[in-house]
Amino acid sequence: MSHLHEPHVGPEPIVRVSCVRHTYPDKTSVHLCGLDFVVDAGQRVVVLGPNGCGKSTLLYHILGLLRPQEGEVSVFGVDPARHFSKIRERVGVLLQNADEQIIAPTVWDDVSFSPRNYGYTAAEVDAKVRFALRRMGIEHLSHKVCHYLSGGEKRKVALAGALVLEPELLVLDEPFEGLDPASRGEMVELLDRLNREHGVSLVVATHDVQLVAPLADKVYVLKAGGEIVAQGPPSDIFQDPDLLRATNIEPPVLAELFQRLEQAGHPLGRPQSPEAAAERLVRWMATERDRAAAAVATALRDEHRRTGSMPSPDATDRVAAPIPPADPARS
Ligand SMILES: Nc1ncnc2c1ncn2[C@@H]1O[C@H](COP(=O)(O)OP(=O)(O)OP(=O)(O)O)[C@@H](O)[C@H]1O
Ligand SMILES: [Mg+2]
Repeated sequence: MSHLHEPHVGPEPIVRVSCVRHTYPDKTSVHLCGLDFVVDAGQRVVVLGPNGCGKSTLLYHILGLLRPQEGEVSVFGVDPARHFSKIRERVGVLLQNADEQIIAPTVWDDVSFSPRNYGYTAAEVDAKVRFALRRMGIEHLSHKVCHYLSGGEKRKVALAGALVLEPELLVLDEPFEGLDPASRGEMVELLDRLNREHGVSLVVATHDVQLVAPLADKVYVLKAGGEIVAQGPPSDIFQDPDLLRATNIEPPVLAELFQRLEQAGHPLGRPQSPEAAAERLVRWMATERDRAAAAVATALRDEHRRTGSMPSPDATDRVAAPIPPADPARS
């Protein structure tokens, strides 16, 4: 995790936002400074921060919807506020409010909007739209009137529209809001597949910490006012739940649990998934049990030496026996 400005090494990043300030008409000022916001090709980057800290403002600058009053923004080597038309086809967008971006009357009209406007043939448009709808699992909504869609359905339609031209970079503002758990899981899986199989880079704004570990290669943490206070892989960011609490983000339950265990003298690291946590706890319990068994064996041997009595043959086995399941009546 880094708290300092670092010189960038390697190929030029596809997105860089350096110390941008935007003051809205009512004088609310968002200063996206502290660390540079950098996305390398093929990276999955999550922007994490509490409500109102400036996540959407950051994304608007990447999309050229806002022009910085201070600082610099570069996307695919151009200033998006001036030349977004040059990179439009390379960037897919999901705005926080799907209603703002669904413009056509029916789902089909909406998802086909970009390919129709980029001069593809009718057959190509048809194939692209079908593919995008299938990817989002919403082919059955194709002829539905957008206005009557549920919130979650609208989000999926908007994302189908963002994917339809197969962009290199997806900029997604709170893509999981309003989705049920199954749809969230599917969305994480889809984004992961787009990244792995098609090399699509991701910038995802969210305040849902539980989805960060499965989704991010790199996390940026923003605090109120827009300051970018930390960046790093999720395992580093969640190493320090206090940093998240200080920025008004509830740390993931697993990070909190393993921090408490560490404070209680059991440093077991920071597993990122329930599977990894369960495996680590089971291993730890086995080690503790072996240690207890060894201690009992030593004590019995010492006692035997002292008194000359024979230790019971199964005394240590009893200690090393499997831990019985908890009595459900007592839990
Ligand atoms: N058009 C606007 N006019 C005035 N203030 C605005 C405008 N848009 C955003 N703001 C203010 O700028 C700050 C940052 O807003 P932004 O929408 O970027 O936050 P956010 O991190 O995306 O929040 P959320 O998690 O709620 O989506 C907030 O204080 C907000 O009230
Ligand atoms: Mg927002």
